[in-house]
Amino acid sequence: MSSILHGTDYYPEQWLDQLHVLDDDLRLMLEAGITAITVGVFAWSHLEPQEGCYRLDWLDRVITRAGEQGIMTILATPSGARPAWMARRYPEVLRTLSDGRRARFGGRHNHCPSSGVYREKVAAINEQLSARFGGRPEVILWHISNEYQGTCFCDGCAHAFRSWLRIQHRDDLDLLNHRWWSSFWSHRYSDWEEIEPPMSHGEDELHGQVIDWKRFASHQITDFARHEVAAIRRYDADTPSTVNLMGLHSSINAAELVESVERVSGDIYPAWGLPPGTDDGMLHTIPGNGDLFRNYAFILAYYRGLSGGKPWLLMESTPGTTNWHPVGRLKRPGAHVLSSVAAVAGGADSVQYFQWRQGRGGWEQFHGSVIDHEGRAGRTHSDVTDVSRMLGQLDDLVGVSCVADAAVVLDTPSRWMINQASGPRNDGRRGEVETAMRHFDSLTRRGLLVDVVPVEANFERYSIVVLPMVAELSKETASRLLRFVDAGGTLVVTYFTGVFDRWMCLVEGGTPAWLNTAMDVSVTELDQLAAGEAVPIHWIPVGDARRESSLPSFALEYCGIIQTGGAAEKIAVYGGEFYCGSAAITRTRVGSGSVWYQACRLDDAGLDRLTAEVVRASTRSTGGRVLPARWRRLVMSLDPRLRWIARNGENATYLFLFNPGDSPCDVNGIPEETGEPGSDQGGRIIAAHRGEALGTTRVRLDSWGSVVLQVSRSMD
Ligand code: GLA
Ligand code: ZN
Repeated sequence: MSSILHGTDYYPEQWLDQLHVLDDDLRLMLEAGITAITVGVFAWSHLEPQEGCYRLDWLDRVITRAGEQGIMTILATPSGARPAWMARRYPEVLRTLSDGRRARFGGRHNHCPSSGVYREKVAAINEQLSARFGGRPEVILWHISNEYQGTCFCDGCAHAFRSWLRIQHRDDLDLLNHRWWSSFWSHRYSDWEEIEPPMSHGEDELHGQVIDWKRFASHQITDFARHEVAAIRRYDADTPSTVNLMGLHSSINAAELVESVERVSGDIYPAWGLPPGTDDGMLHTIPGNGDLFRNYAFILAYYRGLSGGKPWLLMESTPGTTNWHPVGRLKRPGAHVLSSVAAVAGGADSVQYFQWRQGRGGWEQFHGSVIDHEGRAGRTHSDVTDVSRMLGQLDDLVGVSCVADAAVVLDTPSRWMINQASGPRNDGRRGEVETAMRHFDSLTRRGLLVDVVPVEANFERYSIVVLPMVAELSKETASRLLRFVDAGGTLVVTYFTGVFDRWMCLVEGGTPAWLNTAMDVSVTELDQLAAGEAVPIHWIPVGDARRESSLPSFALEYCGIIQTGGAAEKIAVYGGEFYCGSAAITRTRVGSGSVWYQACRLDDAGLDRLTAEVVRASTRSTGGRVLPARWRRLVMSLDPRLRWIARNGENATYLFLFNPGDSPCDVNGIPEETGEPGSDQGGRIIAAHRGEALGTTRVRLDSWGSVVLQVSRSMD
């Protein structure tokens, strides 16, 4: 790929009775600058209308005709939904729900991943597709199934669960009972056959069992994905494959699933313009200040982190509205370009849509699409054409691995555990994702580019790593983190990190697990504050380092009470409650780096102050790795309505500026090119939509405007 791919999901099987549609569509795609179609996602009943009777000619025609126009194909395997004949003849392909009822035919994304028949049928259709289309020059990527998710509770899955457990627990039931703490409520097992999946009317309180089930369900879907890819590989060894991820969706551990394919891709549907407190369309809530861009940038950084910094693919986004947001608000002029260009800024090498043409019927008839159900090209088609124009300026980015300054860890098993736990608070404010987002945002506002990563990440790529509520921390992860610190890295650890072992039992040897000794910090108790309550935080003055914000700061919701040894320097103490005067934030030097412990949830002022101190004290290359110092100062002083993301290309670094709001906004103080060796780097606009230069150092962004500046590489 030498250009950013601009593609769309395409469902020609819904229009097979109208032959002109394909020609009309391809013509309008060319006009809009579409360079790829994703086909076959839900086409199984047209590909195999009767058992063993394959009909691939229509698909061949689509791929060939598109290819003749220079439009490439991303070819999907159709396992996301199956034909009715299959469900009728082999009901075991259908999923069994958590209450034990087997689903009837209908819907999608609901097969049993353990069903031998389904695996056989999927392998057969995948082989057909691969034998016919694998290696064709038009086919550039295999799109495996669609948005894998969920789990099945059938007897076959229960059987597979028990076999998996035997491997996990060395075929030793005593070991399993010990790890699951099953003497609690007399849940001790005396035979492997007694163990069931956690059905909705069965076991839900034995955490070890529930967490093992979640791990198994993730493993089973990943195994299914591998099975699909293996069938493709029988005829096509080379074309890469991908699975489209679902952002924060946690029924599968995305870090595990992506290991089954060559490329990371994901779908995102931000609900631009909806009010604070609304569902953001990305499995989170729009924060109180309405800053949906924060959540969006976080998911982009999560996909980038899951692909280890390599460019990922934005496999689906809506060109208009959706049929499932709380309110189907139309995108305001500029919003579509902003959303799409921001994805590229966040590491995507593609902008792709669901979907090209609106279907006349079915569940998604009110979903936005590039053209409508009558083939009319309107405002959205012209927005999409504008995206093409912007993408055309960004070739320098394609295929180049993204560099970042810092990483915030978001780990799926820890999320499972925090949500599985009963307590220590039950008021909807556990907030592990929100905590990660706030750290992400606070670091971003200090001018750092931040990845969101799973615990498997290579921490050496960053100067600062934050562990926000990473409830399960293994010895292995902790050792890697301490090696990173020893070599000069900065680690920030928060309350509720390192609480559980792999089976969600409380750790032995002190909290935060495996780090407490090196940090010389140990958590003794964890106080919980109700909404609206706060404990003042007093920062301990040291030299001139305390010139930061004089805004008072407070602890909210979680207040860890800690014991510290001599190696842990107190940075801040509580200013209230019975733990008044005890440490709330500490720093411990370990080797050439340091570990900070944040024992309490901080309000915005407190978190920003902590972040500022962490960044300033960080010894490793922070302050210029992604953005040169002058540019960092620029993004730190942006009008708070504006947002930025940076991405490095082959020949330059690019600063993307966005105005995700309804009123215009200026950027002042853009560094100028001086041309002198060793001087700070200047910049120039290389692409803009609803944005323009006002002189050499100023840029105006209209409502929903986007501007891309090229930052010259340092000459020293
Ligand atoms: C998901 C699915 C698509 C479509 C869109 C609608 O991302 O993968 O098939 O249903 O949602 O927004
Ligand atoms: Zn099953």
